[in-house]
Amino acid sequence: MTAEDDLIHFGIPEITDDDVAAVARVLRSGWLTTGSECAGLEAELSDYLGGSEVIAMSSGTAALDTALAYLDLPRGARVGVPDWTFVATALAAVHNGLRPVLLDVDAATLNLSPEALAAEIDDLDAVLPVHFGGVPVDAEIHQLAADAGVPVVEDAAHALGARDDRGLVGGPGTSPNCFSFYASKNLTSGEGGALATDDEDLAAFARSYRLHGMDADAWARYHPGAKSGYDVVRPGIKANLPDVLAVLARSQFARFEQSQRRRRQIGLRYRAALADAPVTFIPDVIPDGSADHLAIVALRPGVDRDAVQATMSAQRITTSVHFRPLHHFSWFRSDADVGRSGLGTCDDLADRALSLPLHVNLTDVDVDRVAACLSECLR
Ligand SMILES: Cc1ncc(COP(=O)(O)O)c(C=O)c1O
Repeated sequence: MTAEDDLIHFGIPEITDDDVAAVARVLRSGWLTTGSECAGLEAELSDYLGGSEVIAMSSGTAALDTALAYLDLPRGARVGVPDWTFVATALAAVHNGLRPVLLDVDAATLNLSPEALAAEIDDLDAVLPVHFGGVPVDAEIHQLAADAGVPVVEDAAHALGARDDRGLVGGPGTSPNCFSFYASKNLTSGEGGALATDDEDLAAFARSYRLHGMDADAWARYHPGAKSGYDVVRPGIKANLPDVLAVLARSQFARFEQSQRRRRQIGLRYRAALADAPVTFIPDVIPDGSADHLAIVALRPGVDRDAVQATMSAQRITTSVHFRPLHHFSWFRSDADVGRSGLGTCDDLADRALSLPLHVNLTDVDVDRVAACLSECLR
Protein backbone atom coordinates (compact mmCIF):
# COMPACT_ATOMS: atom_id res chain seq x y z
CA MET A 1 0.00 0.00 0.00
CA THR A 2 1.27 3.47 -0.83
CA ALA A 3 0.35 7.08 -0.20
CA GLU A 4 -1.37 6.92 -3.60
CA ASP A 5 -4.06 4.62 -2.20
CA ASP A 6 -6.84 7.15 -2.05
CA LEU A 7 -6.09 8.44 -5.56
CA ILE A 8 -8.82 7.65 -8.08
CA HIS A 9 -7.01 7.79 -11.37
CA PHE A 10 -8.84 8.66 -14.55
CA GLY A 11 -7.67 5.54 -16.32
CA ILE A 12 -5.25 2.82 -15.35
CA PRO A 13 -5.07 -0.55 -17.04
CA GLU A 14 -5.80 -3.67 -15.04
CA ILE A 15 -2.61 -5.76 -15.07
CA THR A 16 -2.98 -9.12 -13.36
CA ASP A 17 -0.33 -11.61 -12.24
CA ASP A 18 -1.33 -13.72 -15.26
CA ASP A 19 -0.58 -10.76 -17.57
CA VAL A 20 2.84 -10.30 -15.97
CA ALA A 21 3.61 -14.03 -16.22
CA ALA A 22 2.56 -14.12 -19.88
CA VAL A 23 4.82 -11.18 -20.78
CA ALA A 24 7.70 -12.69 -18.76
CA ARG A 25 7.28 -15.98 -20.63
CA VAL A 26 7.69 -14.20 -23.99
CA LEU A 27 10.63 -12.15 -22.69
CA ARG A 28 12.39 -15.39 -21.79
CA SER A 29 11.38 -17.21 -24.97
CA GLY A 30 14.03 -15.69 -27.22
CA TRP A 31 11.43 -14.32 -29.67
CA LEU A 32 10.31 -10.74 -28.95
CA THR A 33 9.10 -9.44 -32.29
CA THR A 34 6.09 -10.43 -34.39
CA GLY A 35 5.60 -14.19 -34.29
CA SER A 36 3.33 -16.82 -32.81
CA GLU A 37 1.82 -14.57 -30.09
CA CYS A 38 0.82 -11.99 -32.67
CA ALA A 39 -0.65 -14.72 -34.88
CA GLY A 40 -2.47 -16.10 -31.82
CA LEU A 41 -3.96 -12.70 -30.98
CA GLU A 42 -5.09 -12.25 -34.59
CA ALA A 43 -6.73 -15.68 -34.59
CA GLU A 44 -8.53 -15.05 -31.29
CA LEU A 45 -9.82 -11.66 -32.40
CA SER A 46 -10.86 -13.07 -35.77
CA ASP A 47 -12.80 -15.80 -34.02
CA TYR A 48 -14.45 -13.27 -31.69
CA LEU A 49 -15.39 -11.02 -34.62
CA GLY A 50 -17.06 -13.88 -36.47
CA GLY A 51 -14.36 -14.61 -39.04
CA SER A 52 -13.07 -11.21 -40.18
CA GLU A 53 -9.38 -11.18 -41.02
CA VAL A 54 -7.46 -9.40 -38.27
CA ILE A 55 -4.07 -7.83 -38.89
CA ALA A 56 -2.37 -6.68 -35.70
CA MET A 57 -0.49 -3.38 -35.91
CA SER A 58 1.78 -1.24 -33.76
CA SER A 59 -1.08 1.26 -33.18
CA GLY A 60 -4.63 2.17 -34.09
CA THR A 61 -3.16 5.07 -36.06
CA ALA A 62 -1.11 2.63 -38.16
CA ALA A 63 -4.27 0.59 -38.83
CA LEU A 64 -6.03 3.77 -40.04
CA ASP A 65 -3.00 4.73 -42.15
CA THR A 66 -3.00 1.28 -43.73
CA ALA A 67 -6.74 1.12 -44.49
CA LEU A 68 -6.56 4.57 -46.09
CA ALA A 69 -3.41 3.71 -48.10
CA TYR A 70 -5.28 0.73 -49.55
CA LEU A 71 -7.98 3.07 -50.93
CA ASP A 72 -5.25 4.61 -53.12
CA LEU A 73 -7.03 7.96 -53.36
CA PRO A 74 -5.43 10.82 -55.30
CA ARG A 75 -3.47 13.50 -53.41
CA GLY A 76 -5.76 16.11 -51.93
CA ALA A 77 -8.84 13.81 -51.98
CA ARG A 78 -11.36 14.95 -49.35
CA VAL A 79 -12.04 12.72 -46.34
CA GLY A 80 -14.93 13.44 -44.00
CA VAL A 81 -13.86 13.21 -40.34
CA PRO A 82 -15.86 14.06 -37.23
CA ASP A 83 -14.49 17.22 -35.64
CA TRP A 84 -14.93 15.52 -32.26
CA THR A 85 -12.20 12.88 -32.23
CA PHE A 86 -8.60 12.29 -31.32
CA VAL A 87 -6.22 13.97 -33.79
CA ALA A 88 -4.97 10.57 -35.01
CA THR A 89 -8.18 9.99 -36.99
CA ALA A 90 -7.66 13.02 -39.21
CA LEU A 91 -3.86 12.80 -39.27
CA ALA A 92 -4.05 9.30 -40.74
CA ALA A 93 -5.76 10.92 -43.73
CA VAL A 94 -3.14 13.67 -43.83
CA HIS A 95 -0.30 11.11 -43.78
CA ASN A 96 -1.84 9.66 -46.94
CA GLY A 97 -1.84 13.03 -48.70
CA LEU A 98 -5.58 13.49 -48.14
CA ARG A 99 -7.46 16.57 -46.96
CA PRO A 100 -9.60 16.26 -43.82
CA VAL A 101 -13.06 17.79 -43.98
CA LEU A 102 -14.24 18.39 -40.42
CA LEU A 103 -17.88 17.51 -39.83
CA ASP A 104 -20.14 18.26 -36.89
CA VAL A 105 -21.36 15.63 -34.44
CA ASP A 106 -24.61 14.62 -32.83
CA ALA A 107 -24.89 16.16 -29.32
CA ALA A 108 -26.51 12.99 -27.95
CA THR A 109 -23.54 10.74 -28.78
CA LEU A 110 -20.68 12.94 -30.07
CA ASN A 111 -20.69 10.64 -33.11
CA LEU A 112 -20.63 11.95 -36.69
CA SER A 113 -23.93 13.67 -37.42
CA PRO A 114 -25.90 12.14 -40.33
CA GLU A 115 -27.14 15.64 -41.23
CA ALA A 116 -23.59 17.00 -41.41
CA LEU A 117 -22.50 14.04 -43.55
CA ALA A 118 -25.55 14.33 -45.83
CA ALA A 119 -24.71 17.98 -46.51
CA GLU A 120 -21.19 17.07 -47.63
CA ILE A 121 -21.27 13.52 -48.96
CA ASP A 122 -21.40 14.47 -52.65
CA ASP A 123 -18.04 16.21 -52.30
CA LEU A 124 -16.24 13.53 -50.30
CA ASP A 125 -13.92 10.78 -51.52
CA ALA A 126 -14.01 8.77 -48.25
CA VAL A 127 -15.52 8.93 -44.76
CA LEU A 128 -13.86 8.12 -41.45
CA PRO A 129 -16.58 7.81 -38.81
CA VAL A 130 -15.53 7.20 -35.20
CA HIS A 131 -17.45 4.93 -32.82
CA PHE A 132 -16.88 7.54 -30.14
CA GLY A 133 -16.61 6.25 -26.59
CA GLY A 134 -17.56 2.82 -27.91
CA VAL A 135 -21.04 3.85 -29.08
CA PRO A 136 -21.54 2.62 -32.66
CA VAL A 137 -22.21 5.32 -35.25
CA ASP A 138 -25.72 5.85 -36.54
CA ALA A 139 -26.76 3.33 -39.23
CA GLU A 140 -27.62 6.29 -41.45
CA ILE A 141 -23.91 7.09 -41.78
CA HIS A 142 -23.26 3.74 -43.50
CA GLN A 143 -26.37 4.16 -45.65
CA LEU A 144 -25.44 7.67 -46.80
CA ALA A 145 -21.93 6.54 -47.75
CA ALA A 146 -23.19 3.40 -49.52
CA ASP A 147 -25.80 5.38 -51.49
CA ALA A 148 -23.13 7.87 -52.59
CA GLY A 149 -20.58 5.12 -53.37
CA VAL A 150 -18.11 6.68 -50.95
CA PRO A 151 -15.74 4.23 -49.17
CA VAL A 152 -15.77 4.11 -45.38
CA VAL A 153 -12.98 3.31 -42.94
CA GLU A 154 -14.30 2.98 -39.38
CA ASP A 155 -12.26 4.32 -36.49
CA ALA A 156 -13.02 1.68 -33.89
CA ALA A 157 -10.26 2.76 -31.48
CA HIS A 158 -12.86 2.80 -28.66
CA ALA A 159 -15.09 0.08 -29.99
CA LEU A 160 -13.80 -3.45 -29.51
CA GLY A 161 -16.91 -5.32 -28.38
CA ALA A 162 -19.34 -2.69 -29.70
CA ARG A 163 -22.31 -4.00 -31.64
CA ASP A 164 -24.83 -2.41 -33.99
CA ASP A 165 -27.52 -3.81 -36.26
CA ARG A 166 -24.78 -5.21 -38.53
CA GLY A 167 -23.40 -7.29 -35.63
CA LEU A 168 -20.07 -6.77 -33.87
CA VAL A 169 -18.17 -3.68 -35.06
CA GLY A 170 -15.37 -5.20 -37.15
CA GLY A 171 -17.36 -8.31 -37.96
CA PRO A 172 -17.99 -9.51 -41.54
CA GLY A 173 -20.20 -7.11 -43.49
CA THR A 174 -18.77 -3.99 -41.85
CA SER A 175 -16.26 -1.62 -43.47
CA PRO A 176 -12.59 -1.96 -42.47
CA ASN A 177 -12.40 -1.26 -38.74
CA CYS A 178 -9.34 0.07 -36.95
CA PHE A 179 -8.96 -0.85 -33.27
CA SER A 180 -6.49 0.65 -30.79
CA PHE A 181 -4.82 -1.22 -27.95
CA TYR A 182 -3.30 1.96 -26.47
CA ALA A 183 -2.73 1.95 -22.70
CA SER A 184 -6.10 3.50 -21.84
CA LYS A 185 -8.21 1.27 -24.11
CA ASN A 186 -10.59 -1.50 -23.01
CA LEU A 187 -8.07 -4.05 -24.28
CA THR A 188 -4.46 -2.94 -24.16
CA SER A 189 -1.03 -4.10 -25.22
CA GLY A 190 0.52 -0.84 -24.00
CA GLU A 191 0.70 0.38 -27.58
CA GLY A 192 -0.92 -1.52 -30.43
CA GLY A 193 -3.85 -1.83 -32.71
CA ALA A 194 -5.50 -4.00 -35.33
CA LEU A 195 -7.28 -3.77 -38.64
CA ALA A 196 -10.32 -6.04 -39.08
CA THR A 197 -11.76 -6.65 -42.52
CA ASP A 198 -13.67 -9.19 -44.56
CA ASP A 199 -11.83 -8.02 -47.70
CA GLU A 200 -9.09 -10.56 -48.46
CA ASP A 201 -7.23 -8.16 -50.75
CA LEU A 202 -7.10 -5.49 -48.07
CA ALA A 203 -5.96 -8.10 -45.53
CA ALA A 204 -3.11 -9.23 -47.82
CA PHE A 205 -2.17 -5.60 -48.49
CA ALA A 206 -2.15 -4.80 -44.76
CA ARG A 207 0.02 -7.81 -43.86
CA SER A 208 2.78 -6.60 -46.14
CA TYR A 209 2.15 -2.85 -45.73
CA ARG A 210 2.70 -3.08 -41.96
CA LEU A 211 6.19 -4.49 -42.60
CA HIS A 212 7.83 -2.25 -45.22
CA GLY A 213 5.80 -3.86 -48.02
CA MET A 214 7.71 -7.13 -47.63
CA ASP A 215 5.98 -10.34 -48.65
CA ALA A 216 7.27 -12.39 -45.68
CA ASP A 217 7.79 -11.42 -42.05
CA ALA A 218 10.68 -12.46 -39.79
CA TRP A 219 8.70 -15.32 -38.24
CA ALA A 220 8.04 -16.77 -41.69
CA ARG A 221 11.71 -16.37 -42.65
CA TYR A 222 13.56 -17.60 -39.55
CA HIS A 223 11.52 -20.69 -38.79
CA PRO A 224 13.51 -23.92 -39.16
CA GLY A 225 13.12 -25.03 -42.77
CA ALA A 226 11.66 -21.68 -43.93
CA LYS A 227 12.75 -19.80 -47.02
CA SER A 228 14.93 -16.88 -45.91
CA GLY A 229 14.34 -14.53 -48.88
CA TYR A 230 11.64 -11.94 -49.40
CA ASP A 231 10.44 -9.50 -51.98
CA VAL A 232 9.29 -5.89 -51.43
CA VAL A 233 6.01 -5.49 -53.27
CA ARG A 234 5.01 -1.97 -52.15
CA PRO A 235 6.55 0.89 -50.14
CA GLY A 236 5.06 -0.01 -46.78
CA ILE A 237 5.53 1.33 -43.27
CA LYS A 238 6.96 -0.21 -40.07
CA ALA A 239 3.92 -1.01 -38.00
CA ASN A 240 4.01 -4.64 -36.89
CA LEU A 241 2.95 -5.65 -33.37
CA PRO A 242 5.75 -7.46 -31.48
CA ASP A 243 4.99 -10.65 -29.57
CA VAL A 244 6.07 -9.09 -26.28
CA LEU A 245 3.09 -6.69 -26.61
CA ALA A 246 0.71 -9.07 -28.38
CA VAL A 247 0.92 -11.50 -25.48
CA LEU A 248 -0.33 -8.82 -23.07
CA ALA A 249 -3.37 -8.19 -25.26
CA ARG A 250 -3.98 -11.96 -25.48
CA SER A 251 -3.77 -12.34 -21.74
CA GLN A 252 -6.21 -9.47 -21.26
CA PHE A 253 -8.52 -10.75 -23.97
CA ALA A 254 -9.06 -13.94 -21.94
CA ARG A 255 -11.14 -11.84 -19.47
CA PHE A 256 -12.46 -9.26 -21.95
CA GLU A 257 -16.16 -10.08 -21.59
CA GLN A 258 -15.92 -9.93 -17.81
CA SER A 259 -14.12 -6.56 -17.99
CA GLN A 260 -16.74 -5.22 -20.36
CA ARG A 261 -19.51 -6.23 -17.95
CA ARG A 262 -17.77 -4.34 -15.15
CA ARG A 263 -17.41 -1.22 -17.33
CA ARG A 264 -21.14 -1.32 -18.04
CA GLN A 265 -21.92 -1.62 -14.30
CA ILE A 266 -19.77 1.43 -13.63
CA GLY A 267 -21.47 3.47 -16.37
CA LEU A 268 -24.88 2.59 -14.96
CA ARG A 269 -23.80 3.33 -11.38
CA TYR A 270 -22.58 6.80 -12.40
CA ARG A 271 -25.90 7.52 -14.07
CA ALA A 272 -27.86 6.47 -10.97
CA ALA A 273 -25.57 8.34 -8.57
CA LEU A 274 -25.69 11.55 -10.62
CA ALA A 275 -29.37 11.38 -11.57
CA ASP A 276 -30.11 14.63 -9.69
CA ALA A 277 -26.88 16.42 -10.54
CA PRO A 278 -26.89 19.29 -13.08
CA VAL A 279 -25.16 17.25 -15.79
CA THR A 280 -26.23 15.35 -18.91
CA PHE A 281 -24.60 12.03 -19.69
CA ILE A 282 -23.43 11.48 -23.28
CA PRO A 283 -25.11 9.26 -24.19
CA ASP A 284 -27.93 9.79 -21.71
CA VAL A 285 -28.93 6.11 -21.83
CA ILE A 286 -26.22 3.57 -22.62
CA PRO A 287 -27.12 1.74 -25.84
CA ASP A 288 -27.02 -2.07 -25.56
CA GLY A 289 -24.30 -2.23 -28.20
CA SER A 290 -21.91 0.20 -26.53
CA ALA A 291 -18.36 -0.91 -25.71
CA ASP A 292 -18.47 1.43 -22.68
CA HIS A 293 -15.09 3.02 -23.27
CA LEU A 294 -15.81 6.41 -21.71
CA ALA A 295 -18.09 7.97 -19.08
CA ILE A 296 -18.77 11.51 -20.28
CA VAL A 297 -20.97 14.20 -18.81
CA ALA A 298 -21.81 17.58 -20.31
CA LEU A 299 -21.65 20.32 -17.70
CA ARG A 300 -24.22 23.11 -17.86
CA PRO A 301 -23.23 26.15 -19.99
CA GLY A 302 -21.18 28.63 -17.95
CA VAL A 303 -19.74 26.05 -15.53
CA ASP A 304 -15.95 26.43 -15.37
CA ARG A 305 -14.71 22.95 -16.35
CA ASP A 306 -11.09 23.73 -15.46
CA ALA A 307 -12.20 24.68 -11.95
CA VAL A 308 -14.27 21.48 -11.61
CA GLN A 309 -11.27 19.40 -12.71
CA ALA A 310 -8.95 21.27 -10.35
CA THR A 311 -11.31 20.82 -7.39
CA MET A 312 -11.74 17.12 -8.12
CA SER A 313 -8.00 16.75 -8.52
CA ALA A 314 -7.51 18.38 -5.11
CA GLN A 315 -9.85 15.67 -3.80
CA ARG A 316 -7.49 13.12 -5.43
CA ILE A 317 -9.75 12.28 -8.36
CA THR A 318 -8.34 12.81 -11.85
CA THR A 319 -10.62 13.43 -14.81
CA SER A 320 -10.02 14.00 -18.51
CA VAL A 321 -11.39 15.62 -21.65
CA HIS A 322 -12.26 13.62 -24.77
CA PHE A 323 -11.65 15.54 -26.93
CA ARG A 324 -10.83 19.09 -27.91
CA PRO A 325 -12.56 19.58 -31.28
CA LEU A 326 -10.01 19.36 -34.07
CA HIS A 327 -10.74 22.84 -35.39
CA HIS A 328 -9.63 24.29 -32.04
CA PHE A 329 -6.04 23.22 -32.85
CA SER A 330 -3.94 25.65 -34.91
CA TRP A 331 -2.87 23.19 -37.60
CA PHE A 332 -6.42 22.07 -38.35
CA ARG A 333 -7.65 25.68 -38.38
CA SER A 334 -5.31 26.45 -41.24
CA ASP A 335 -5.03 23.13 -43.07
CA ALA A 336 -8.41 21.38 -42.87
CA ASP A 337 -11.76 22.17 -44.50
CA VAL A 338 -14.97 22.59 -42.54
CA GLY A 339 -18.19 20.91 -43.70
CA ARG A 340 -21.07 23.01 -45.00
CA SER A 341 -23.21 22.57 -41.90
CA GLY A 342 -20.55 24.08 -39.62
CA LEU A 343 -19.30 22.86 -36.27
CA GLY A 344 -21.91 24.34 -33.93
CA THR A 345 -22.38 21.29 -31.70
CA CYS A 346 -18.64 20.85 -31.28
CA ASP A 347 -18.26 24.51 -30.32
CA ASP A 348 -21.17 24.27 -27.91
CA LEU A 349 -19.76 21.24 -26.08
CA ALA A 350 -16.02 21.98 -26.40
CA ASP A 351 -15.66 23.44 -22.89
CA ARG A 352 -18.39 21.38 -21.23
CA ALA A 353 -17.60 17.70 -21.83
CA LEU A 354 -15.89 16.01 -18.91
CA SER A 355 -14.70 12.39 -18.81
CA LEU A 356 -15.04 10.64 -15.46
CA PRO A 357 -12.75 7.80 -14.36
CA LEU A 358 -13.76 4.52 -16.02
CA HIS A 359 -11.67 1.38 -15.65
CA VAL A 360 -12.14 -2.02 -14.10
CA ASN A 361 -9.95 -1.26 -11.09
CA LEU A 362 -12.67 1.06 -9.75
CA THR A 363 -14.76 -0.22 -6.87
CA ASP A 364 -18.39 0.81 -6.32
CA VAL A 365 -17.12 2.94 -3.43
CA ASP A 366 -14.76 4.74 -5.84
CA VAL A 367 -17.57 5.41 -8.30
CA ASP A 368 -19.77 6.81 -5.54
CA ARG A 369 -16.90 8.99 -4.34
CA VAL A 370 -16.40 10.42 -7.85
CA ALA A 371 -20.13 11.10 -8.19
CA ALA A 372 -20.35 12.72 -4.76
CA CYS A 373 -17.31 14.88 -5.46
CA LEU A 374 -18.67 16.05 -8.83
CA SER A 375 -22.10 16.81 -7.29
CA GLU A 376 -20.41 18.79 -4.55
CA CYS A 377 -18.37 20.78 -7.10
CA LEU A 378 -21.52 21.70 -9.00
CA ARG A 379 -23.59 22.66 -5.95
C1 LIG B 1 -10.70 8.00 -31.58
C2 LIG B 1 -9.27 7.55 -31.69
N1 LIG B 1 -8.79 7.25 -32.91
C3 LIG B 1 -7.52 6.82 -33.07
C4 LIG B 1 -6.68 6.67 -31.99
C5 LIG B 1 -5.26 6.24 -32.24
O1 LIG B 1 -4.96 5.05 -31.61
P1 LIG B 1 -3.43 4.72 -31.23
O2 LIG B 1 -3.06 5.56 -30.06
O3 LIG B 1 -3.45 3.25 -30.92
O4 LIG B 1 -2.63 5.02 -32.44
C6 LIG B 1 -7.13 6.97 -30.71
C7 LIG B 1 -6.25 6.82 -29.55
O5 LIG B 1 -6.39 7.33 -28.50
C8 LIG B 1 -8.47 7.43 -30.55
O6 LIG B 1 -8.96 7.73 -29.33
